[in-house]
Amino acid sequence: MQLRAKITGVASYFPEKKLGNQELEKMVDTNDAWIVERTGIRERRIAHAQESAGSMGAEASKRLLEQLGVSPEEIDLIIVTTVTPDHPFPATASVIQTEIGATRAWGFDISAACSGYLYGLEVARGMVESARSKKLLLVSSEKMSSIVDYQDRSTCILFGDAGTASLIEASEDESGILESIMRLDGTGLPSLYMPAGGSRLPTSEETVKARKHFAVQDGRAVYKRAVVDMAEISAEVLERAKVPIDQVRWFIPHQANLRIIESAAKRLNLPMDRVAVNIDRYANTTSATIPSCLAEKIEEGTAKKGDLILMASFGAGFTWGATLIRL
Ligand code: UT7
Repeated sequence: MQLRAKITGVASYFPEKKLGNQELEKMVDTNDAWIVERTGIRERRIAHAQESAGSMGAEASKRLLEQLGVSPEEIDLIIVTTVTPDHPFPATASVIQTEIGATRAWGFDISAACSGYLYGLEVARGMVESARSKKLLLVSSEKMSSIVDYQDRSTCILFGDAGTASLIEASEDESGILESIMRLDGTGLPSLYMPAGGSRLPTSEETVKARKHFAVQDGRAVYKRAVVDMAEISAEVLERAKVPIDQVRWFIPHQANLRIIESAAKRLNLPMDRVAVNIDRYANTTSATIPSCLAEKIEEGTAKKGDLILMASFGAGFTWGATLIRL
């Protein structure tokens, strides 16, 4: 029998510390009205110094396993998606594995920026559907505050910190991942990246002085592509799955900018009351946005068993993708 992979649970962890727009007004030349109007963001969460992508991801994982009554020894594979790994090497999967005590798991990281969750889900799908994994932990966790330049008003207003964890298993009924498409266009690299700290431009006194260890973005270039590509790939996934848009209960787009979300929804002919939004409270948490929205909808009871959910992302790389699931 053909196996189908399924998200059997999802949990989030947000650091307690809130950073509101008014506080940012004291740090850079910006104002609350501009940020709300141009991005929809009102506040974001900031991790404390001892927290990391690994520790936040581990916290979300512990919550998830407790919620599902799954013991850490049952996990056979850990996939972490992050642009802020605890160390350049080894993978943050090592941190999660020891912190939660997943003694039987192997694991690795995926670097796909804002599309990390959907890329991770795609790999997880392959592992579960080929019966190579029975209980797979997909951790999407980001300490964006560690790579955000709080002197750059064009980026520091946009990002926040969060950890999420999802359990992927084989489905026992009609639910699960129905269709997905992933894309990569490397010509987009200079539009959103961290210039130094890798093998192309290793860390040096000069790179630190020149503030090259922060995320830099050509906002307009990314914006234009995000609107068009997220809507197009979503429509393509629905067409392949032969699912009309009006059957989709929730559209969960990556949360980078409320205007991007609204434009993509409009292109898809979707009213905003079927679009998940949490960017106002958490800003852009990179690969953690989609799973944190999904967790919210399940918790509030508006995403129920049998519901069709369409997820879409666009981010650095450029990477983008869309995945249709039945809960
Ligand atoms: O998750 C990864 C993918 N990332 C994205 O999808 C982000 C995509 N891009 C965006 O969301 C938007 O482009 C931004 C929110 C980053 C910027 O919004 P925008 O409407 O594209 O603004 P802009 O960059 O065209 O800048 C408009 C003006 C500029 O001033 P001038 O040149 O017109 O005088 C900026 O200097 O707004 C100025 N500006 C600001 N003003 C107040 C830029 N940042 C700020 C700020 N506060 N924080």
